Amino acid sequence: MQQIEFINTNYLFSCPIVKFTVSDHEQLNKLIASEARSWRKDAHGVNVSNKGDSWHSPDGLMSRPEPGFSKISKMFPIAASTYAQQIGAKINIASYEFEANAWVNINKKGGFNSIHTHGRFHISGVYYVKQPAVKSGESGMIEFVNSRFDHHIYQELNSNAFAPKVSMRPKAGEMIVFPSTLLHSVYPNDSEEERITIAWNLIFRKKSQPTDPLPNAPKFIQPKNATLKI
Ligand SMILES: [Fe+2]
Repeated sequence: MQQIEFINTNYLFSCPIVKFTVSDHEQLNKLIASEARSWRKDAHGVNVSNKGDSWHSPDGLMSRPEPGFSKISKMFPIAASTYAQQIGAKINIASYEFEANAWVNINKKGGFNSIHTHGRFHISGVYYVKQPAVKSGESGMIEFVNSRFDHHIYQELNSNAFAPKVSMRPKAGEMIVFPSTLLHSVYPNDSEEERITIAWNLIFRKKSQPTDPLPNAPKFIQPKNATLKI
């Protein structure tokens, strides 16, 4: 009599979100928080997805001299390499370099980020420096949205593989890394405490690969300190 046996599962077109934790992060986070507040005093922020009382620093965090910023920046390439490994990327990571940028978000009460992607890049990350504790509600949660329109499958199967959206509230000291094309937003901060995160974007680029699409094309001038090769 015939039987059917399981072989394997192929997670085709998956949407991997990889989570990290930084050990002994308390002192580091205090340092980064004070560096972030000083930067805010010195610089006008930029207006992108940030709304309400939400300061988005200029890009260029990775080129700044502050020790906290510099320490956390050194973890981005490590997280990117681990991400590639975790998703089973068939590349020799040692032959790659990364183009990356990073910035600070400070969301005070009412601050939030409307829905957006970081689509030009390959992967994006958020490190949680300060995440106010809340007893209930969605304050400070990041929400990822499924743009694949398979929500009707979720309605019957109740599996996150097909959920229309998934929210999470990583703790201070944690970092999440996700595909830059993934739609996401951040719920308003309902607490009196500020919420501080460091966000980054990264492109994997094979070393020696020309960065200009045409050999004789004029060089594209990057804004000072905005994007770094790491
Ligand atoms: Fe974002």
